[in-house]
Amino acid sequence: MDDESRDKPKKCSTNMSLAVIFISSLLAMAGVGGQLTPGFRPPSVPLLVVNPYFSVWSNADNLYDDFTRHWTGAVNCFTGMISIDGKPYRFMSKDSDLPDSVITQKSVQVYPTRTVYEFASQGIQLIVTFTTPSLPNFVEYGSLPISYISFNVSSTDGQTHDVRLYYDNTAEIAVSDVLEKVSWSRTAVKLDGYITMRTGTVSQQFPGKGSDRINWGYFYVSVPDESSLQTSMTNVGDSRVAFANGKPLPSDDPNQPRPCSDKWPGLVIAWDLGKVGSTAVSKYVTVAYDQVDSILYFGTAMIPYWRHVYQSLPGMLLFAHENCTGIVNKCTETDSTVMGTLGKLGGSNYTSIASLVWRQAVGGTESVWNNVTNKEWRFMKEISSDGDVSTVDVLFPASPLFIWQSPQPFYLMLEPLLAYTNNETIKYGLNIPYNLAWCPHHLGHWPVCNLPPNHQEQMPIEETGNILIMLAAIAKSDPTWLLNAVAKYEGVLKVFGDYLVSSLPDPANQICTDDFEGPSPHNVNLAAKGIVGLGAYSYILRLDNQTDKADYYLKIAQSYAQYWINHSLDGDHYKLQYNLPGSWSLKYNLMYQKLLGFELFPQNVFDSEEMYYQTKMNEYGVPLDDRADFTKSDWMMWVAAMGNQEQFQLLVDKLYLFATSTPDRVPFTDWYYTSTGKRKGFIARPVMGGLYARAMLYS
Ligand SMILES: *[C@@H]1O[C@H](CO)[C@@H](O)[C@H](O)[C@H]1NC(C)=O
Ligand SMILES: *[C@@H]1O[C@H](CO)[C@@H](O)[C@H](O)[C@H]1NC(C)=O
Ligand SMILES: *[C@@H]1O[C@H](CO)[C@@H](O)[C@H](O)[C@H]1NC(C)=O
Ligand SMILES: *[C@@H]1O[C@H](CO)[C@@H](O)[C@H](O)[C@H]1NC(C)=O
Ligand SMILES: *[C@@H]1O[C@H](CO)[C@@H](O)[C@H](O)[C@H]1NC(C)=O
Ligand SMILES: *[C@@H]1O[C@H](CO)[C@@H](O)[C@H](O)[C@H]1NC(C)=O
Ligand SMILES: *[C@@H]1O[C@H](CO)[C@@H](O)[C@H](O)[C@H]1NC(C)=O
Repeated sequence: MDDESRDKPKKCSTNMSLAVIFISSLLAMAGVGGQLTPGFRPPSVPLLVVNPYFSVWSNADNLYDDFTRHWTGAVNCFTGMISIDGKPYRFMSKDSDLPDSVITQKSVQVYPTRTVYEFASQGIQLIVTFTTPSLPNFVEYGSLPISYISFNVSSTDGQTHDVRLYYDNTAEIAVSDVLEKVSWSRTAVKLDGYITMRTGTVSQQFPGKGSDRINWGYFYVSVPDESSLQTSMTNVGDSRVAFANGKPLPSDDPNQPRPCSDKWPGLVIAWDLGKVGSTAVSKYVTVAYDQVDSILYFGTAMIPYWRHVYQSLPGMLLFAHENCTGIVNKCTETDSTVMGTLGKLGGSNYTSIASLVWRQAVGGTESVWNNVTNKEWRFMKEISSDGDVSTVDVLFPASPLFIWQSPQPFYLMLEPLLAYTNNETIKYGLNIPYNLAWCPHHLGHWPVCNLPPNHQEQMPIEETGNILIMLAAIAKSDPTWLLNAVAKYEGVLKVFGDYLVSSLPDPANQICTDDFEGPSPHNVNLAAKGIVGLGAYSYILRLDNQTDKADYYLKIAQSYAQYWINHSLDGDHYKLQYNLPGSWSLKYNLMYQKLLGFELFPQNVFDSEEMYYQTKMNEYGVPLDDRADFTKSDWMMWVAAMGNQEQFQLLVDKLYLFATSTPDRVPFTDWYYTSTGKRKGFIARPVMGGLYARAMLYS
């Protein structure tokens, strides 16, 4: 029990302000086109999905069926209980020291930035909302390393009930191995009017040991102080039992530091709501992860961007509390705008699956402050496949969400690659000249960028085409800004353009992004990428009024496209490889021609391919190509985006069916079998931003 003053203001917890937010969001959701499909069952529900480290999910139908988990599947335990008329019920996580009885889950709704659970039992309704300011186009909020968890309790049976609420988390969120020693403190941060507790490892070694889970920095829980509140930092077993028995929480455990798993010391909160009637009572906590340092870029440690804006952790937390209403409003507005567009384009199934992947895509990134150039930079992690930083063929499949929502900030994810290619690493401390004639594959293993060019995973045409196409797409939305930004990289872009000229129209035996399929020489889809990439380079030159050069590259791209058609046409469709009659594949690499308005490939190529895919349709979608039954969710939705409304909707419904019925309960996979709906590999990857391809093209 703490004895700090309990009578300070609490900004986000007044029933009034939250009621306004939630009611306005409910009204927005009721609008035509913004609906989720009733009963949609996500394979995994995003709870606290903020960045690649702070990424907590529920892999179960009900929030109380399993522990909450990190995207890796490791337990990151967050629990919740409600006591109704003296009897405890669980609503979040399942553990041996939590009660068996639960308050029945009625529904879960996953919006782009929020997840809302509704529970009801014993005449009480409980609504638990997880809100993350996952806002790629609004960095002041979007870079906040926080989520809000709010609880809304009301009586539904005309009676009043005695209600108490309980929250705890262990230190698992702050360790990469539960044997690591952790400590805890309630004095590290003092904010007037709030209780703020933190936990983290003793070792605090940045950049750790290459794990997908962070073991440096600190996890914080901050809550408005008030008389109904109790907090404790103790082993969660004791505090759970105390709460369940109606006893006060145990006092803080002084036995620290100790291993995370040694009786599981945690951060614990309980509220006594007293008599609850039909008027809803609301409480919330702000949870935050301070990474201290986020990325090591060729020798320079880069702090999270929020620290540049808010200066300090206490300053950031205070902002998060005091502006909670504004931040949650912004999230709610974003949800309803995004969902309105999704609904118009593809109905409730499209709305459901695209909303589900929003935080997965945006939460796969991190904004940092580059103190060498005094600018914001962003990084994306190749989650689950190998943990690389800034993998170009992960940025590319994810790009539709970002090109649609935040084209300029998306450039901040490409610039660290351009700077590396442009021999600027010396400014950061490590001098690693880049001597290859094509775009790199990635920068290093998260969170360390340090890769020499001879250790690259070479995908020359793939990545060179990708980066030119992404730059052109940004240029389309803001030509002057992009031309200005890339002016210093003009030489690098020319190297890229010339590389595509020299390596096409037949890509020989290069590997492409679908490298898990094995080598595919003379790959037709890869050639399409390179040709659209050349078109993209020409497009950028033309915007820059370098008309002669633009014409030069365009003419070459046009002749390569003609070669492509001549050599890949196979009756009613186009081949997988120039040299393989009877083969076929998804030509997702044609997609950006639509956005950029090129005429390199005639419309009948798109039409006949789309028609041909329909003949290969399985229960859960169309395979990637003739070599296997599996597909890629992202590429399938790129292909869907290019189709007519009926073709698009059919693939949306297939992916929806996969998501809602696959037995594999992991954050949305992008690699699964189209006949069985079983996962092949890959989880939680930001490439799922590709589900927004239709929105990017048509809104
Ligand atoms: C709480 O839930 C009630 C009942 O569903 C709803 O009317 C109210 O707007 C919610 N209030 C808050 C603060 O979330
Ligand atoms: C940039 O930040 C890092 C990490 O905080 C620090 O070590 C370094 O001295 C700073 N460099 C400059 C140029 O300010
Ligand atoms: C956010 O809160 C601060 C106080 O911490 C206040 O000065 C500021 O005006 C608020 N900003 C916004 C955008 O609401
Ligand atoms: C970077 O340095 C390498 C090695 O000296 C050189 O081959 C390459 O041309 C340089 N790149 C640029 C863009 O200057
Ligand atoms: C290109 O030329 C047009 C027409 O003269 C002009 O409006 C535009 O500003 C120029 N763009 C650049 C990047 O110089
Ligand atoms: C493609 O085929 C057409 C018609 O057969 C022919 O005229 C043209 O030269 C060929 N072009 C290329 C680039 O192969
Ligand atoms: C959503 O997809 C399912 C499964 O493919 C399909 O049965 C259903 O008709 C679709 N619902 C809507 C509203 O389109």
